[in-house]
Amino acid sequence: GKARISIAIDGPAGAGKSTIAKIISKTLNILYLDTGAMYRAVALKAIRESVDTLNREQMSKLVENIDIKIAHSEDIQRIFLDGEDVTDFIRTPEVSIGASNVATVPAVRLKMVELQREIAKKNSVVMDGRDIGTYVLPDATLKFFLTASVEARAIRRYNELLSKGITQITLEDVKKDIEYRDKNDSNREFAPLSKAPDAIEIDTTDLTIEQVVNKIMEYAKDYVC
Ligand code: CDP
Ligand code: CDP
Repeated sequence: GKARISIAIDGPAGAGKSTIAKIISKTLNILYLDTGAMYRAVALKAIRESVDTLNREQMSKLVENIDIKIAHSEDIQRIFLDGEDVTDFIRTPEVSIGASNVATVPAVRLKMVELQREIAKKNSVVMDGRDIGTYVLPDATLKFFLTASVEARAIRRYNELLSKGITQITLEDVKKDIEYRDKNDSNREFAPLSKAPDAIEIDTTDLTIEQVVNKIMEYAKDYVC
């Protein structure tokens, strides 16, 4: 068959990575991998076992024997933690902050990156995260870096909550969560959130999803199979 391709989509929370990556994966008929879900699953395990998500020693120990598996059913990525499908438990605010914390621990990252590279070796993929273009897949076929103002990203996430009927969380709470993670993810020593020199940056603040997809497809159209 055709040579394998890989598309890296990085950027901060709410920039539109997962929404856009899912559409690109369908259009190109390649696998979509949400790497954030992996860090979320690690955080969930830590929270359940009352392990401090910022404690390097304890976190390194916690991931020694962790079993994270990814499966795809009808376009939806499911994630398994030690054999249990935890897909529906990893989107809480507590897990979001925990994920950002565990993601600062090198031992955690090394383990997740190994899994991510293995998947990219076997499949053509569009992968979204923070360090895909800079660290996980430095030789990716195409790299994109999506951004948007903090305000726009907070409003997007807030509207998502409202549409799910969640009204206890305020826009201010959502903004604080995003700001905490932006800072934490950008300032960590190992594989921080940053734009790869060869990534194409798209500011999505004033763009619709369709406009962003169209921009990306200008570069990716040659890879439609
Ligand atoms: O994956 P990431 O955290 O980067 O963002 P997302 O979950 O894909 O997008 C957050 C929300 O913003 C979703 O509800 C999208 O529908 C919305 N969005 C938007 O309104 N306009 C865009 N240009 C991109 C995403
Ligand atoms: O969807 P959203 O952008 O809110 O978050 P996510 O992509 O699910 O990622 C959750 C957290 O995992 C991020 O805040 C990062 O700290 C971490 N992460 C990372 O460090 N590297 C990745 N490749 C993906 C996520």
